[in-house]
Amino acid sequence: MPNPLRLGIAGLGTVGVGVIRILENHAALIAARSGQPIEITAVSARSKAKDRGVDLAGYAWEDDPVALAKRGDIDVFVELMGGEDGPAKASVEAAIVAGKHVVTANKAMLAIHGQAMAEAAESSDVALKFEAAVAGGIPVIKSLTEGLAGNKITRVMGVMNGTCNYILTRMENEGVPYEQVFADAKALGYLEADPNLDVGGIDAGHKLALLSSIAFGTKVNFAGVELEGIQRISITDIEQASDMGFRIKLLGVAQLTGRGLEQRMQPCLVPKNSPFGQLENATNMVLLEGDAVGQIVLRGAGAGEGPTASAVMSDVIDIARGFRLSTFGQPAIGLKNIQAAQVSAAAAFYLRLMLKDAPGVLHKITGALADAGVSIDRMRQYSHADTAAPVLMVTHKTTRAELDHALAGIISTGVTLQDPVAIRIEDV
Ligand code: HSE
Repeated sequence: MPNPLRLGIAGLGTVGVGVIRILENHAALIAARSGQPIEITAVSARSKAKDRGVDLAGYAWEDDPVALAKRGDIDVFVELMGGEDGPAKASVEAAIVAGKHVVTANKAMLAIHGQAMAEAAESSDVALKFEAAVAGGIPVIKSLTEGLAGNKITRVMGVMNGTCNYILTRMENEGVPYEQVFADAKALGYLEADPNLDVGGIDAGHKLALLSSIAFGTKVNFAGVELEGIQRISITDIEQASDMGFRIKLLGVAQLTGRGLEQRMQPCLVPKNSPFGQLENATNMVLLEGDAVGQIVLRGAGAGEGPTASAVMSDVIDIARGFRLSTFGQPAIGLKNIQAAQVSAAAAFYLRLMLKDAPGVLHKITGALADAGVSIDRMRQYSHADTAAPVLMVTHKTTRAELDHALAGIISTGVTLQDPVAIRIEDV
Protein backbone atom coordinates (compact mmCIF):
# COMPACT_ATOMS: atom_id res chain seq x y z
CA MET A 1 0.00 0.00 0.00
CA PRO A 2 1.43 3.45 -0.83
CA ASN A 3 2.26 5.86 1.99
CA PRO A 4 -0.74 7.71 3.40
CA LEU A 5 -1.55 11.32 2.60
CA ARG A 6 -1.23 13.01 6.00
CA LEU A 7 -3.63 15.75 7.08
CA GLY A 8 -3.32 18.44 9.72
CA ILE A 9 -6.73 19.86 10.60
CA ALA A 10 -7.04 23.29 12.22
CA GLY A 11 -10.53 23.94 13.59
CA LEU A 12 -12.66 21.20 15.13
CA GLY A 13 -16.10 22.75 14.92
CA THR A 14 -18.96 21.21 12.99
CA VAL A 15 -17.01 20.85 9.75
CA GLY A 16 -13.76 19.57 11.29
CA VAL A 17 -15.68 16.90 13.19
CA GLY A 18 -17.50 16.02 9.97
CA VAL A 19 -14.18 15.45 8.19
CA ILE A 20 -12.99 13.17 11.01
CA ARG A 21 -16.24 11.18 10.80
CA ILE A 22 -16.04 10.76 7.02
CA LEU A 23 -12.45 9.53 7.31
CA GLU A 24 -13.45 7.12 10.10
CA ASN A 25 -16.49 5.79 8.26
CA HIS A 26 -15.10 5.54 4.75
CA ALA A 27 -11.35 4.90 5.15
CA ALA A 28 -11.26 1.91 2.76
CA LEU A 29 -13.52 3.49 0.13
CA ILE A 30 -11.49 6.71 0.17
CA ALA A 31 -8.16 4.86 -0.03
CA ALA A 32 -9.45 2.88 -3.03
CA ARG A 33 -10.61 6.03 -4.81
CA SER A 34 -7.53 8.06 -3.92
CA GLY A 35 -4.90 5.43 -4.62
CA GLN A 36 -3.51 5.93 -1.12
CA PRO A 37 -4.87 5.96 2.42
CA ILE A 38 -5.74 9.36 3.88
CA GLU A 39 -4.97 9.84 7.55
CA ILE A 40 -5.11 12.61 10.09
CA THR A 41 -1.75 13.20 11.75
CA ALA A 42 -2.39 16.23 13.94
CA VAL A 43 -5.16 18.64 14.89
CA SER A 44 -5.54 22.05 16.45
CA ALA A 45 -8.50 23.88 17.98
CA ARG A 46 -9.23 26.45 20.69
CA SER A 47 -10.07 23.87 23.39
CA LYS A 48 -8.41 20.50 23.76
CA ALA A 49 -10.75 19.44 26.57
CA LYS A 50 -14.08 19.99 24.79
CA ASP A 51 -16.09 16.82 24.10
CA ARG A 52 -16.79 16.78 20.37
CA GLY A 53 -18.15 13.25 20.17
CA VAL A 54 -15.10 12.00 18.24
CA ASP A 55 -11.95 10.36 19.57
CA LEU A 56 -8.91 12.58 19.08
CA ALA A 57 -6.52 10.28 20.97
CA GLY A 58 -4.80 9.04 17.81
CA TYR A 59 -3.85 12.55 16.63
CA ALA A 60 -1.05 14.83 17.78
CA TRP A 61 -2.34 18.08 19.27
CA GLU A 62 -1.08 21.59 18.51
CA ASP A 63 -2.36 24.63 20.39
CA ASP A 64 -1.02 26.89 17.66
CA PRO A 65 -2.44 26.38 14.14
CA VAL A 66 0.66 28.00 12.63
CA ALA A 67 2.81 25.32 14.30
CA LEU A 68 0.43 22.69 12.90
CA ALA A 69 0.75 24.17 9.41
CA LYS A 70 4.55 23.85 9.55
CA ARG A 71 4.77 20.29 10.90
CA GLY A 72 7.07 18.03 8.93
CA ASP A 73 4.65 15.10 9.23
CA ILE A 74 1.70 16.64 7.38
CA ASP A 75 1.19 16.92 3.61
CA VAL A 76 -2.09 18.86 3.58
CA PHE A 77 -3.15 21.66 5.92
CA VAL A 78 -6.94 21.74 6.29
CA GLU A 79 -8.06 25.16 7.54
CA LEU A 80 -11.53 25.07 9.10
CA MET A 81 -11.25 27.88 11.66
CA GLY A 82 -12.80 30.69 9.63
CA GLY A 83 -12.18 34.42 9.90
CA GLU A 84 -10.85 36.79 7.31
CA ASP A 85 -7.50 37.42 9.03
CA GLY A 86 -5.98 36.22 12.30
CA PRO A 87 -4.94 32.59 12.81
CA ALA A 88 -6.61 31.37 9.60
CA LYS A 89 -4.63 33.70 7.35
CA ALA A 90 -1.39 33.30 9.32
CA SER A 91 -1.56 29.50 9.25
CA VAL A 92 -2.54 29.21 5.58
CA GLU A 93 0.35 31.51 4.63
CA ALA A 94 2.71 29.46 6.83
CA ALA A 95 1.51 26.21 5.25
CA ILE A 96 2.14 27.53 1.74
CA VAL A 97 5.64 28.71 2.67
CA ALA A 98 6.29 25.28 4.23
CA GLY A 99 5.28 23.59 0.95
CA LYS A 100 2.00 22.09 2.22
CA HIS A 101 -1.14 21.80 0.16
CA VAL A 102 -4.05 23.76 1.63
CA VAL A 103 -7.75 22.95 1.73
CA THR A 104 -10.00 25.59 3.27
CA ALA A 105 -13.69 26.37 3.76
CA ASN A 106 -12.91 30.00 4.46
CA LYS A 107 -14.80 32.24 2.02
CA ALA A 108 -14.16 35.46 3.97
CA MET A 109 -10.39 34.98 3.89
CA LEU A 110 -10.30 34.05 0.20
CA ALA A 111 -12.66 36.85 -0.84
CA ILE A 112 -10.13 39.33 0.55
CA HIS A 113 -6.76 37.57 0.29
CA GLY A 114 -7.52 34.91 -2.34
CA GLN A 115 -5.51 36.48 -5.16
CA ALA A 116 -2.32 36.86 -3.08
CA MET A 117 -2.75 33.40 -1.56
CA ALA A 118 -3.36 31.76 -4.94
CA GLU A 119 -0.26 33.44 -6.41
CA ALA A 120 1.78 32.29 -3.40
CA ALA A 121 0.47 28.72 -3.62
CA GLU A 122 1.11 28.52 -7.35
CA SER A 123 4.65 29.85 -7.04
CA SER A 124 5.30 27.30 -4.24
CA ASP A 125 3.77 24.57 -6.43
CA VAL A 126 1.17 23.57 -3.86
CA ALA A 127 -2.60 23.31 -4.18
CA LEU A 128 -4.96 25.82 -2.57
CA LYS A 129 -8.49 24.44 -2.80
CA PHE A 130 -11.82 25.72 -1.49
CA GLU A 131 -14.81 23.67 -2.66
CA ALA A 132 -16.35 23.89 0.83
CA ALA A 133 -16.21 27.69 0.86
CA VAL A 134 -19.04 28.15 -1.64
CA ALA A 135 -22.51 26.62 -1.22
CA GLY A 136 -21.41 23.89 1.21
CA GLY A 137 -22.01 20.44 -0.24
CA ILE A 138 -22.80 21.62 -3.78
CA PRO A 139 -19.79 20.89 -6.02
CA VAL A 140 -19.97 24.28 -7.73
CA ILE A 141 -16.23 24.95 -7.93
CA LYS A 142 -15.68 21.61 -9.65
CA SER A 143 -18.61 22.28 -11.96
CA LEU A 144 -17.15 25.60 -13.08
CA THR A 145 -13.48 24.64 -13.24
CA GLU A 146 -13.91 21.18 -14.74
CA GLY A 147 -17.38 20.32 -16.00
CA LEU A 148 -17.90 23.64 -17.78
CA ALA A 149 -14.26 24.33 -18.67
CA GLY A 150 -15.10 24.41 -22.39
CA ASN A 151 -17.70 27.16 -22.04
CA LYS A 152 -17.58 30.91 -22.01
CA ILE A 153 -19.54 31.51 -18.81
CA THR A 154 -22.16 34.17 -19.41
CA ARG A 155 -23.82 34.40 -16.00
CA VAL A 156 -23.64 32.99 -12.48
CA MET A 157 -26.60 33.27 -10.14
CA GLY A 158 -27.12 31.87 -6.70
CA VAL A 159 -29.01 31.70 -3.45
CA MET A 160 -25.97 30.91 -1.34
CA ASN A 161 -26.88 31.81 2.21
CA GLY A 162 -29.10 29.18 3.75
CA THR A 163 -29.86 31.27 6.82
CA CYS A 164 -31.36 34.07 4.74
CA ASN A 165 -33.41 31.65 2.67
CA TYR A 166 -34.65 29.99 5.87
CA ILE A 167 -35.70 33.39 7.26
CA LEU A 168 -37.42 34.50 4.05
CA THR A 169 -39.28 31.23 3.47
CA ARG A 170 -40.52 31.04 7.08
CA MET A 171 -41.68 34.66 6.91
CA GLU A 172 -43.60 33.79 3.76
CA ASN A 173 -44.97 30.39 4.72
CA GLU A 174 -45.96 31.26 8.30
CA GLY A 175 -46.51 35.01 8.14
CA VAL A 176 -44.00 35.49 10.97
CA PRO A 177 -42.15 38.86 11.08
CA TYR A 178 -38.42 39.16 10.42
CA GLU A 179 -37.44 39.81 14.05
CA GLN A 180 -39.13 36.63 15.28
CA VAL A 181 -37.67 34.36 12.60
CA PHE A 182 -34.25 35.94 13.14
CA ALA A 183 -34.51 34.99 16.85
CA ASP A 184 -35.48 31.41 15.91
CA ALA A 185 -32.56 31.18 13.46
CA LYS A 186 -30.26 32.32 16.26
CA ALA A 187 -31.65 29.73 18.69
CA LEU A 188 -31.17 27.00 16.07
CA GLY A 189 -27.50 28.00 15.69
CA TYR A 190 -27.97 28.97 12.02
CA LEU A 191 -26.45 32.44 12.35
CA GLU A 192 -22.75 33.20 12.07
CA ALA A 193 -21.09 34.64 15.22
CA ASP A 194 -21.56 38.02 13.53
CA PRO A 195 -25.15 37.71 12.20
CA ASN A 196 -24.58 40.60 9.81
CA LEU A 197 -22.38 38.27 7.75
CA ASP A 198 -25.56 36.32 7.00
CA VAL A 199 -28.43 38.80 6.99
CA GLY A 200 -26.31 41.65 5.59
CA GLY A 201 -25.52 39.54 2.52
CA ILE A 202 -21.76 39.59 3.20
CA ASP A 203 -21.26 35.81 3.46
CA ALA A 204 -23.16 35.27 0.22
CA GLY A 205 -21.26 38.20 -1.36
CA HIS A 206 -17.94 36.54 -0.50
CA LYS A 207 -19.13 33.36 -2.24
CA LEU A 208 -20.29 35.28 -5.32
CA ALA A 209 -16.93 37.07 -5.61
CA LEU A 210 -15.11 33.71 -5.58
CA LEU A 211 -17.39 32.22 -8.24
CA SER A 212 -17.01 35.34 -10.42
CA SER A 213 -13.26 34.98 -10.43
CA ILE A 214 -13.45 31.42 -11.73
CA ALA A 215 -16.29 32.11 -14.14
CA PHE A 216 -14.81 35.20 -15.78
CA GLY A 217 -11.05 34.77 -15.26
CA THR A 218 -10.90 37.93 -13.13
CA LYS A 219 -9.17 38.77 -9.87
CA VAL A 220 -11.42 38.28 -6.85
CA ASN A 221 -13.12 41.62 -6.29
CA PHE A 222 -15.33 41.46 -3.21
CA ALA A 223 -15.26 45.26 -2.89
CA GLY A 224 -16.96 45.39 -6.29
CA VAL A 225 -20.01 43.39 -5.12
CA GLU A 226 -23.11 45.58 -4.77
CA LEU A 227 -24.41 44.35 -1.41
CA GLU A 228 -27.78 44.63 0.28
CA GLY A 229 -29.10 42.44 3.10
CA ILE A 230 -32.55 41.15 3.96
CA GLN A 231 -33.05 43.15 7.16
CA ARG A 232 -35.56 45.56 5.64
CA ILE A 233 -37.76 42.96 3.94
CA SER A 234 -41.23 43.11 5.47
CA ILE A 235 -44.04 40.60 5.63
CA THR A 236 -46.08 43.08 3.60
CA ASP A 237 -43.59 42.95 0.73
CA ILE A 238 -43.39 39.17 0.88
CA GLU A 239 -47.20 38.88 0.79
CA GLN A 240 -47.73 41.48 -1.91
CA ALA A 241 -44.91 40.16 -4.07
CA SER A 242 -46.55 36.76 -3.72
CA ASP A 243 -49.84 38.22 -4.83
CA MET A 244 -48.12 39.41 -8.02
CA GLY A 245 -46.62 35.92 -8.66
CA PHE A 246 -43.17 36.43 -7.12
CA ARG A 247 -41.06 35.33 -4.14
CA ILE A 248 -38.31 37.37 -2.53
CA LYS A 249 -34.85 35.76 -2.42
CA LEU A 250 -31.39 37.01 -1.46
CA LEU A 251 -30.02 36.41 -4.94
CA GLY A 252 -26.51 36.84 -6.25
CA VAL A 253 -25.90 37.64 -9.91
CA ALA A 254 -22.54 38.00 -11.65
CA GLN A 255 -21.94 38.75 -15.30
CA LEU A 256 -19.20 40.30 -17.36
CA THR A 257 -20.63 43.17 -19.38
CA GLY A 258 -19.33 45.93 -21.63
CA ARG A 259 -19.70 48.18 -18.56
CA GLY A 260 -17.38 46.00 -16.45
CA LEU A 261 -17.93 43.14 -14.01
CA GLU A 262 -21.41 43.27 -12.55
CA GLN A 263 -21.71 41.51 -9.18
CA ARG A 264 -24.86 41.98 -7.13
CA MET A 265 -26.03 40.27 -3.95
CA GLN A 266 -29.39 41.71 -2.96
CA PRO A 267 -33.02 40.82 -2.28
CA CYS A 268 -34.77 40.26 -5.62
CA LEU A 269 -38.16 39.14 -6.79
CA VAL A 270 -38.12 35.91 -8.77
CA PRO A 271 -41.11 34.24 -10.43
CA LYS A 272 -42.68 31.66 -8.11
CA ASN A 273 -42.46 28.95 -10.76
CA SER A 274 -38.74 29.53 -11.50
CA PRO A 275 -36.11 27.21 -9.95
CA PHE A 276 -35.14 29.91 -7.43
CA GLY A 277 -38.80 30.60 -6.68
CA GLN A 278 -39.27 27.01 -5.55
CA LEU A 279 -36.31 26.97 -3.18
CA GLU A 280 -37.36 26.39 0.44
CA ASN A 281 -35.68 26.71 3.84
CA ALA A 282 -31.89 26.61 4.21
CA THR A 283 -31.21 24.97 0.85
CA ASN A 284 -28.78 26.63 -1.58
CA MET A 285 -29.10 26.84 -5.36
CA VAL A 286 -26.61 27.94 -8.00
CA LEU A 287 -27.40 28.53 -11.65
CA LEU A 288 -24.47 28.48 -14.09
CA GLU A 289 -24.94 29.66 -17.65
CA GLY A 290 -22.45 28.83 -20.41
CA ASP A 291 -22.50 29.58 -24.12
CA ALA A 292 -22.35 25.91 -25.09
CA VAL A 293 -24.16 24.17 -22.24
CA GLY A 294 -26.95 26.70 -21.64
CA GLN A 295 -28.15 26.78 -18.04
CA ILE A 296 -27.49 24.21 -15.36
CA VAL A 297 -28.93 24.35 -11.86
CA LEU A 298 -27.28 22.85 -8.79
CA ARG A 299 -29.25 22.49 -5.58
CA GLY A 300 -28.32 21.14 -2.17
CA ALA A 301 -27.29 21.79 1.40
CA GLY A 302 -25.17 24.90 1.72
CA ALA A 303 -24.00 24.28 5.26
CA GLY A 304 -23.87 21.66 8.00
CA GLU A 305 -21.50 18.93 9.09
CA GLY A 306 -21.95 16.30 6.38
CA PRO A 307 -22.38 18.53 3.32
CA THR A 308 -19.46 20.85 4.10
CA ALA A 309 -17.16 17.98 5.14
CA SER A 310 -18.12 16.21 1.90
CA ALA A 311 -16.80 19.22 -0.05
CA VAL A 312 -13.59 19.34 2.01
CA MET A 313 -12.99 15.65 1.30
CA SER A 314 -13.47 16.15 -2.42
CA ASP A 315 -10.54 18.61 -2.39
CA VAL A 316 -8.41 16.33 -0.21
CA ILE A 317 -9.07 13.37 -2.50
CA ASP A 318 -8.15 15.44 -5.57
CA ILE A 319 -4.79 16.16 -3.92
CA ALA A 320 -4.30 12.48 -3.08
CA ARG A 321 -5.06 11.56 -6.70
CA GLY A 322 -2.38 13.99 -7.84
CA PHE A 323 -4.94 16.15 -9.63
CA ARG A 324 -3.64 19.71 -9.68
CA LEU A 325 -5.60 22.71 -10.86
CA SER A 326 -4.90 26.40 -10.30
CA THR A 327 -6.94 27.82 -7.42
CA PHE A 328 -9.27 29.84 -9.66
CA GLY A 329 -9.18 27.46 -12.63
CA GLN A 330 -6.32 29.25 -14.41
CA PRO A 331 -2.97 30.60 -13.20
CA ALA A 332 -3.64 33.40 -10.69
CA ILE A 333 -0.97 35.62 -12.21
CA GLY A 334 -3.00 35.77 -15.45
CA LEU A 335 -6.36 36.69 -13.88
CA LYS A 336 -7.65 39.98 -15.26
CA ASN A 337 -8.24 43.13 -13.30
CA ILE A 338 -11.69 44.18 -14.55
CA GLN A 339 -13.38 47.22 -13.07
CA ALA A 340 -16.70 46.82 -11.32
CA ALA A 341 -19.69 47.87 -13.44
CA GLN A 342 -21.01 51.14 -12.04
CA VAL A 343 -24.43 50.63 -13.57
CA SER A 344 -26.28 47.32 -13.37
CA ALA A 345 -28.29 45.90 -16.24
CA ALA A 346 -31.81 47.27 -16.69
CA ALA A 347 -34.55 45.37 -14.89
CA ALA A 348 -38.22 45.51 -14.05
CA PHE A 349 -38.89 46.67 -10.49
CA TYR A 350 -41.60 46.01 -7.93
CA LEU A 351 -42.75 49.24 -6.29
CA ARG A 352 -44.89 49.42 -3.17
CA LEU A 353 -46.37 52.79 -2.37
CA MET A 354 -48.56 53.93 0.51
CA LEU A 355 -50.44 56.93 -0.83
CA LYS A 356 -52.87 59.52 0.47
CA ASP A 357 -56.37 58.66 -0.70
CA ALA A 358 -57.34 61.90 -2.49
CA PRO A 359 -58.29 62.97 -6.02
CA GLY A 360 -55.33 63.26 -8.43
CA VAL A 361 -52.84 61.33 -6.30
CA LEU A 362 -52.24 58.60 -8.89
CA HIS A 363 -51.92 61.27 -11.56
CA LYS A 364 -48.97 62.74 -9.63
CA ILE A 365 -47.34 59.34 -9.19
CA THR A 366 -47.64 58.36 -12.84
CA GLY A 367 -46.38 61.83 -13.77
CA ALA A 368 -43.23 61.35 -11.67
CA LEU A 369 -42.64 57.97 -13.32
CA ALA A 370 -43.21 59.44 -16.78
CA ASP A 371 -40.80 62.33 -16.07
CA ALA A 372 -38.08 59.78 -15.23
CA GLY A 373 -38.84 57.69 -18.32
CA VAL A 374 -40.15 54.75 -16.27
CA SER A 375 -43.05 52.86 -17.79
CA ILE A 376 -45.62 50.89 -15.78
CA ASP A 377 -46.23 47.28 -16.74
CA ARG A 378 -48.82 46.31 -14.11
CA MET A 379 -50.52 48.11 -11.27
CA ARG A 380 -52.87 47.19 -8.43
CA GLN A 381 -54.57 49.24 -5.73
CA TYR A 382 -55.72 47.31 -2.68
CA SER A 383 -58.98 47.91 -0.91
CA HIS A 384 -58.57 49.85 2.28
CA ALA A 385 -60.74 51.22 5.02
CA ASP A 386 -58.80 54.32 6.02
CA THR A 387 -57.24 57.24 4.14
CA ALA A 388 -54.01 55.41 3.17
CA ALA A 389 -54.14 53.69 -0.21
CA PRO A 390 -51.71 50.79 -0.77
CA VAL A 391 -50.59 50.64 -4.41
CA LEU A 392 -48.35 48.06 -6.07
CA MET A 393 -46.66 48.50 -9.42
CA VAL A 394 -44.41 46.43 -11.62
CA THR A 395 -42.41 48.59 -14.00
CA HIS A 396 -41.14 47.73 -17.43
CA LYS A 397 -37.37 47.34 -17.59
CA THR A 398 -35.55 50.45 -16.48
CA THR A 399 -32.14 51.36 -15.12
CA ARG A 400 -31.58 51.85 -11.40
CA ALA A 401 -30.64 55.49 -12.13
CA GLU A 402 -33.98 56.14 -13.87
CA LEU A 403 -35.79 54.38 -11.07
CA ASP A 404 -34.01 56.44 -8.40
CA HIS A 405 -34.94 59.58 -10.35
CA ALA A 406 -38.57 58.39 -10.37
CA LEU A 407 -38.51 57.58 -6.63
CA ALA A 408 -37.17 61.05 -5.83
CA GLY A 409 -39.94 62.52 -7.98
CA ILE A 410 -42.58 60.36 -6.26
CA ILE A 411 -41.42 61.47 -2.81
CA SER A 412 -41.39 65.13 -3.85
CA THR A 413 -45.08 64.96 -4.85
CA GLY A 414 -45.91 64.93 -1.14
CA VAL A 415 -48.61 62.27 -1.60
CA THR A 416 -46.68 59.32 -0.13
CA LEU A 417 -47.29 58.33 3.49
CA GLN A 418 -44.23 56.02 3.73
CA ASP A 419 -40.96 55.77 1.84
CA PRO A 420 -41.60 53.78 -1.35
CA VAL A 421 -40.20 50.24 -1.44
CA ALA A 422 -38.43 49.22 -4.66
CA ILE A 423 -37.14 45.68 -5.27
CA ARG A 424 -35.51 44.45 -8.45
CA ILE A 425 -37.22 41.67 -10.42
CA GLU A 426 -34.59 39.30 -11.75
CA ASP A 427 -34.84 37.52 -15.10
CA VAL A 428 -34.32 33.86 -14.30
N1 HSE B 1 -23.92 30.90 7.26
C1 HSE B 1 -23.90 30.29 5.97
C2 HSE B 1 -25.34 30.04 5.53
C3 HSE B 1 -23.18 28.99 5.91
O1 HSE B 1 -26.28 30.30 6.27
O2 HSE B 1 -25.52 29.60 4.42
C4 HSE B 1 -21.71 29.19 5.85
O3 HSE B 1 -21.34 29.99 4.77
